[in-house]
This record gives sequence, structure tokens and C-alpha cells, in this order.
Amino acid sequence: MVAKPIVIDCDPGADDAIALFLALAFPEHLNVLGITTVAGNVPLSLTQKNARALCELMSVDVPVYAGCPRPLLRPLLTAEDVHGKTGLDGIHLPEPQMPLQEQHAVDFLIETLLRSTHKITLATLGPLTNIAIALIKVPAICQHIQEIVMMGGALTQGNITPSAEFNLYVDPHAAHVVATAGVPLTIMSLDVTHQAIATPERLHGIRAINSPISAATLGLLNHYGAYEMQRHGFPGPPLHDPCVIAYLLQPALFTTSRAYVAIETTSELTMGRTVVDRNHVTNAPPHANIAETIDVEGFYQLLTRAIAKLSES
Ligand code: RIB
Ligand code: CA
Repeated sequence: MVAKPIVIDCDPGADDAIALFLALAFPEHLNVLGITTVAGNVPLSLTQKNARALCELMSVDVPVYAGCPRPLLRPLLTAEDVHGKTGLDGIHLPEPQMPLQEQHAVDFLIETLLRSTHKITLATLGPLTNIAIALIKVPAICQHIQEIVMMGGALTQGNITPSAEFNLYVDPHAAHVVATAGVPLTIMSLDVTHQAIATPERLHGIRAINSPISAATLGLLNHYGAYEMQRHGFPGPPLHDPCVIAYLLQPALFTTSRAYVAIETTSELTMGRTVVDRNHVTNAPPHANIAETIDVEGFYQLLTRAIAKLSES
């Protein structure tokens, strides 16, 4: 089986970091062509540095690109209260030595998509600014995208406002561009990622692994979890972004449904809301694939296997 070619767009971020561990642990299944970074959890200067530092922690040589430093229209909103001032509080990584690629992330996305003989899957873990600008700049890239699997949205309760999830709230206009581009789209919303809370029991297997990667995973989750437990009363941190990668590796871990989805870009009260038409009242085509449930045990077995595999090298 040929490894699936993907590009990961992210804003590391604790859960982005663990998603990168998961993605880069199985090169036989996922061919990560590049990591593009965007402002989100922390400013771009930190997300791009964090992505490079994480690649070095994993001893993987994947090119990292810096993308957009702010949303399309709205001012940047960051989440240091969740991820810490560095974006990776809870661990201390050395300054990365690997260079940041000179090419802008948007141009890397466009060039890579246009020249690829295979369609490429985009795994988006942060605000969708880079993806939206690439789609606006060269709409023809749509024909070269296998699917966009995005962490974002809230079908019930939001996490940054009562109605919106952080990634889509930060750049709702970019989310609208992506949702209306006509590209196959799978939405990994809070409603499914909140099923994958990293409780102490579920981390037992990772705790049993003695390696810098397992220590980094636990250190990140310990810091990130403290906020989520205090703020949302969760029994641990939700692993939002790793759900996107788990879907790419083992889609059978999830159940999905199809529905028409639109993004609120007008009302401040519901800005960034994913409006989902489950009952077909709009007669709009059910174009989005929505993840509904996750096999939590299978997810943590996969994540533990990934941390163990990265710990071998
Ligand atoms: O709302 C959760 C999402 O926002 C995750 O991707 C997290 O990393 C932040 O980017
Ligand atoms: Ca993220």
C-alpha cells in the first residue's frame, strides 16, 4: 500500500504536537510532504519554531513552512491561557537548528498540489487562513486535493464562545472559504474530540514507555490538561488535533454522517459557528462528512503504538 501523501497545517499547540507525533510515527502509511504553520494558539513566530523543534525531537526531516501571521479579516486571537506562552508549556525543547523554509506556506501548498501526480490530503489543525488564501489565489488546486480533514467546529457547545470552536472562531472567513470550495471535507468537531479525553487510565500505556517522546507527550498533556480540567471540568485534556490524524490512519475508528454545513461570519454572537443542516431543511447538498463517534480505546491503542514506535528510533 502506498503511503497517503498529506500536508499538515497546524498551530502547535500541545494537541498539535501530539498530532504530529501520531502522523510522523507511521511513514509507511502517511507521507508527510510538509508541515505548514499558521498563527493560532500562539503567534506564527512561535508556531513555526515549535513545529521545527518537534520535528527535531522526533528526529524527522520534514520541511516546515511559515504561513499567515493573522486571520483574513479579524484580529488574531491566541490561546496562551491554554497552551502557555511558548505554545508548548510543560516541556522545554532546545532552539531548533533545522531551518525554516524560505517559501511561504501558501506558495508551498499551491506548488505542491499543482505539481503532484497524486491528489494530496490536507490535515488542518489550526485556523484555516493558509488554506483559504491558497484556494483564493489558485482555485485550480481544488482538483488536486483528495480531501481536507479539519479539526474545527462545534455542533453543540463551543469552547471559545458558547457557539464556536477556537480554530473557526479565530478565522471564520477562512473557514467559510474552505467550506464553500467544493473540496471533499471531513469535519472533526469538538463533539467528537471531546469523546477522546486523555484520562489518566487512557495514558497508562504511554506512561509505561520511557523515552523523550513519551515524556514530552505527558509533559504537554499535564500542562494543557490543567487548563481544560479547571476551565471545562474535564477529567483530562481533550486530544482534538490527534483525532484528525487518527482518522487518516484508521478511519474505521470513527462513525460519520453527511450534512450541509455553513459557517457564521456575520453575527458576533455566533461568529464561527458551524451551522449543520441534519434535517435537510435547506435542501442544500449534504457536502460535508461529519465525524460523529470515535472508538476511544482503539484511538489510545493507536496513539500508544505511535509513541512506542517513535521511541524506538
Ligand atoms: O479548539 C481546539 C483547536 O484549537 C485545536 O486545534 C487546538 O490546538 C486549537 O488550535
Ligand atoms: Ca491546533
